[in-house]
Amino acid sequence: MSAQEPISVSFPDGRETVPRDGETVIHVEEIHKVYSLGETQVHALRGVTLEIKRGEFVAIMGASGSGKSTFMNILGCLDKPASGRYLLEGIDVASLDKRQLAAIRNRKIGFVFQGFNLLARTTALENTELPTLYARMDRAERHRRALEALQMVGLAERTGHFPSQLSGGQQQRVAIARALVNRPSILLADEPTGNLDSRTSVELMEIFQSLNARGLTIILVTHEHDIAQFAKRSIVFRDGKIRRDEGVARRAVAGEVLKTMPVIE
Ligand SMILES: Nc1ncnc2c1ncn2[C@@H]1O[C@H](COP(=O)(O)OP(=O)(O)OP(=O)(O)O)[C@@H](O)[C@H]1O
Ligand SMILES: [Mg+2]
Repeated sequence: MSAQEPISVSFPDGRETVPRDGETVIHVEEIHKVYSLGETQVHALRGVTLEIKRGEFVAIMGASGSGKSTFMNILGCLDKPASGRYLLEGIDVASLDKRQLAAIRNRKIGFVFQGFNLLARTTALENTELPTLYARMDRAERHRRALEALQMVGLAERTGHFPSQLSGGQQQRVAIARALVNRPSILLADEPTGNLDSRTSVELMEIFQSLNARGLTIILVTHEHDIAQFAKRSIVFRDGKIRRDEGVARRAVAGEVLKTMPVIE
């Protein structure tokens, strides 16, 4: 897709992400995380308390090493805190066994990372289908869901392309489609624009804003102040703690910002 085409995000089958704003989806209380490296211990999180409601779009910022990725991994149930409480949609994550944890992660949470982490010899469609392999679903349904997700990120015309045949921005959009294919209620993105040029980054934010407008709760880690301006709320980490937590005063609209940016052919 060229940069001029508008990016359309749609939910063709009226999926159940109708915003029920106000409901708490993430509740963390006094979370601590300590990494042990032989003799030394790294206290990566030092008491993080936070509540995120459905429909929020949160940007997490902070210096390198301040604990952002550690926090995201805990939110995504990829890692457990040393102490503290984490309720995901009201469920105490600590009470779940491995299988239940994997199931909840697969169903409720979508992940996007800085590196796109796509399988090289696998088409956009097949990459997108991957997370559905863990869900109970027949082939036709997998296919339909993957197509729907690719459509949401404006890549319906690239389903047969391999990652090497896609631009960086398109690869990241496949990664987003893959994150959305199980219809999660929360999208966690850890520096998704880290490898992208500025226009492509704003195009990605247009997709995020679109998805958020349709009810998806988004938590985005970024180093860039300009990118954080597309969120509704901004949280700054420092030394494993929340340093600042405030609403974004003049929220940028990605579609508008794109009009002011040069198009690189
Ligand atoms: N697996 C690990 N083992 C030991 N220490 C770790 C591990 N992962 C992270 N750390 C340490 O924990 C602290 C927080 O790291 P984290 O990756 O959460 O930072 P970050 O805010 O995401 O940084 P960046 O902006 O560079 O991605 C750092 O001091 C880091 O060195
Ligand atoms: Mg990080």
